[in-house]
Amino acid sequence: MTRIVAIDGPSGAGKSTIGHALAARIDATYVDTGLMYRALTLAAVERGIDVEDGVVLGVLANQCRIEVERARPEQMDRLETVRLDGRDVTLEVRQPHIDRAVSAVSRHAQVRTAMLSVQRDAAARGDTVMVGRDIGTVVLPNATLKVYLTANAQVRAARRAAEMNAPDRLAEYLAEIERRDAADSGRAIAPLRQADGALVLDTGRLSVEACVDAIAARLEALPE
Ligand code: DC
Repeated sequence: MTRIVAIDGPSGAGKSTIGHALAARIDATYVDTGLMYRALTLAAVERGIDVEDGVVLGVLANQCRIEVERARPEQMDRLETVRLDGRDVTLEVRQPHIDRAVSAVSRHAQVRTAMLSVQRDAAARGDTVMVGRDIGTVVLPNATLKVYLTANAQVRAARRAAEMNAPDRLAEYLAEIERRDAADSGRAIAPLRQADGALVLDTGRLSVEACVDAIAARLEALPE
């Protein structure tokens, strides 16, 4: 039986780290859907498209080619590579101006419809761990296992500051995380929320290892 694990949660909850480690543990393909929304946002910013214009953004989402692929072993700066029309944009999509625009872009129905088919196609290829905001609720409602990772905003901001080696910017990161939480949870279409039956893990209390163990154990315990 193909195993599909859907992992959702707010920014900075540890979805990428835990999702990637889980995929390695169970030998599944890891897919980060946030990278797809980020690549589309970059395409929009580069073309000067208004992030409020859902119609034009929907056309753009259907026109541009966004591909997420496994990083090569020597690429230590990433877990995956994202390409926009063939161009490697993995590092660019993590820049602050993309952080600021991505929630606005990903709020539109036209954008989400275009992304849905790309994401479902990616999960149709075999065992998959897919991370995002609406994977268990909308994209893969029949996933083998749904997981919701969370941690309070202070913990997530501190993690981001440590990751960026910028402890003096903690307040800035906290404000950005709170803004994005509100936008991602408050939007009308596919808002961030816990899927029914999801395994909920607080990554502020549990280590990466403990979370991966808990998810793998839950998968093992499922009937074939
Ligand atoms: O996981 P991330 O921070 O890289 O995601 C960036 C943004 O993309 C996030 O703020 C909301 C959007 N997103 C989404 O709307 N749905 C998803 N499944 C994944 C991300």
